[in-house]
Amino acid sequence: MNYRVPRTRKEIFETLIKGLQRLEYRGYDSAGVAIDGNNHEVKEKHIQLVKKKGKVKALDEELYKQDSMDLKVEFETHFGIAHTRWATHGVPSAVNSHPQRSDKGNEFVVIHNGIITNYKDLRKFLESKGYEFESETDTETIAKLIKYVFDNRETEDITFSTLVERVIQQLEGAFALVFKSIHYPGEAVATRRGSPLLIGVRSKYKLSTEQIPVLYRTCKFPKRDLNSAQQGNACDVCFPLPSSAIIEHTNRVIFLEDDDIAAVADGKLSIHRIKRSASDDPSRAIQTLQMELQQIMKGNFSAFMQKEIFEQPESVFNTMRGRVNFETNTVLLGGLKDHLKEIRRCRRLIVIGCGTSYHAAVATRQVLEELTELPVMVELASDFLDRNTPVFRDDVCFFISQSGETADTLLALRYCKDRGALTVGVTNTVGSSISRETDCGVHINAGPEIGVASTKAYTSQFISLVMFGLMMSEDRISLQSRRQEIIRGLKSLPELIKEVLLLDEKIHDLALELYTQRSLLVMGRGYNYATCLEGALKIKEITYMHSEGILAGELKHGPLALIDKQMPVIMVIMKDPCFAKCQNALQQVTARQGRPIILCSRDDTESSKFAYKTIELPHTVDCLQGILSVIPLQLLSFHLAVLRGYDVDFPRNLAKSVTVE
Ligand code: G6P
Repeated sequence: MNYRVPRTRKEIFETLIKGLQRLEYRGYDSAGVAIDGNNHEVKEKHIQLVKKKGKVKALDEELYKQDSMDLKVEFETHFGIAHTRWATHGVPSAVNSHPQRSDKGNEFVVIHNGIITNYKDLRKFLESKGYEFESETDTETIAKLIKYVFDNRETEDITFSTLVERVIQQLEGAFALVFKSIHYPGEAVATRRGSPLLIGVRSKYKLSTEQIPVLYRTCKFPKRDLNSAQQGNACDVCFPLPSSAIIEHTNRVIFLEDDDIAAVADGKLSIHRIKRSASDDPSRAIQTLQMELQQIMKGNFSAFMQKEIFEQPESVFNTMRGRVNFETNTVLLGGLKDHLKEIRRCRRLIVIGCGTSYHAAVATRQVLEELTELPVMVELASDFLDRNTPVFRDDVCFFISQSGETADTLLALRYCKDRGALTVGVTNTVGSSISRETDCGVHINAGPEIGVASTKAYTSQFISLVMFGLMMSEDRISLQSRRQEIIRGLKSLPELIKEVLLLDEKIHDLALELYTQRSLLVMGRGYNYATCLEGALKIKEITYMHSEGILAGELKHGPLALIDKQMPVIMVIMKDPCFAKCQNALQQVTARQGRPIILCSRDDTESSKFAYKTIELPHTVDCLQGILSVIPLQLLSFHLAVLRGYDVDFPRNLAKSVTVE
């Protein structure tokens, strides 16, 4: 975060900490900041690092314990960097957290998101040159490498961005990096490759242009050919990863491209890169983010996850807004319309995602097969890649991702693109890597999702895929009455979700009975198999109880052995084509003294006879029922986690968006 107006050190702390708190949902095992120890106008330069294991709150407390820091000192220009970490290399600890440093004098410090795959070779090389490492991280090699390049520079006046350019030429893997150095006071340099990075622009002055020109280097190691301080645009800038971290400062952002090097010196921003081809885009546009601060605040709820569960009547409506015409029974997804012909000609659909996003694909597979009359494969991104799955030019591949940044899904996207398939993104984040790299796509419009356990994104992904099926089947005469039934179902969903949310108290009471249990099975089949997988995932993620989503059709092939009168079992039994088969499963469970808690339709008198407890849901079209039946399980996992004393929004060991493979 860079300032061009005098700020006290206290204000700088507060800004950095607040930014980190907004990022905390992505990863939070440790955090750190680097700030100027002295006003850099003073000759003696010093960077102060403060790092702490645990949550951002612990770092915040630590900052105020530092005696050497006068909180009232004012800075004319200041560049502070801050980071929350989710460990990939090395255990969570202060020494492994970022910023990482080049040496004990903190000559260069760096924060990093991503993974450096050749760090072992680099570390070996640097150790052979006498550099001593203190952490187990891949990031520390970057800090040492920049010092090595600096110590071996051929001219005294080498620029900071040139150093960074040389460093990234040695790096393999994915990274978003921000550097600070005592040799370049008041300056910072940021760059990316594979990992996302954006620049927030908050200018006191009207910029001369809404485009920042890219300054190309034509040779690899130029001398001081670009002086960023003279050529840049005057503005306050910050380099956050997700946009939620800066939205309170500015909604004007620049998305950096791979290998762009953004330098800030004396509050002026310039972007440099090595020219690769004549067609390289000569500028980066300043774009406006459509996100409001109150949207990302918790409101009256005790946790973001709870708020997001209760937002679903609006979020599903927003997903459909302007797309489903309930008068004409038509659906138009603007992001796909130009590719519709091509999609209709394809041989099969492959729907790929991770975690909850994968479950949205499982949930809609049957209706997509029915409406598109195409074979539909649903795939976990990691497994899809592990298998080197054959992909053809006439396949259409969907990539489902709330964040649009999940590394496994992104790699699967590149894999399919390389094989010539048409790629379609279904994401909740405009400007995310997946939305930018796919040929076309659907934005699910669910609004920012902060809770690590995904809830409203699931129901909006579900609806987006159903809308796609409806759009594909528009001219199929034989499917018209089915389409109308589904579109009517979509229309009434927001009201029905409100009815389901009224069950909250009843579900809380159920949680009171269950929260001391070690295990919880969730069983169902057909359209509701995905509900079971997703419900069990929610329970695992935030309550740390063992939970398994079981396909009722597989009950007799193994899971039945788990059933006795102690084992809590939730069964999802809806009035749909699988109803009779679910009754069989229910008999098998009760015959083994199982005491099932049944999620069923309101008018189902049959299942309730055998239930230990029932949770009755309003009825909707079979293929949309999963949207209603997942909500009680979202609520149940929330109440269980609270009763067990866990932090619902920040489950241990998990991150909101996993940008490493
Ligand atoms: C992480 C999160 C999950 C999420 C998954 C996919 O594992 O903890 O909640 O479902 O990533 O995320 P995406 O952003 O691609 O939907």
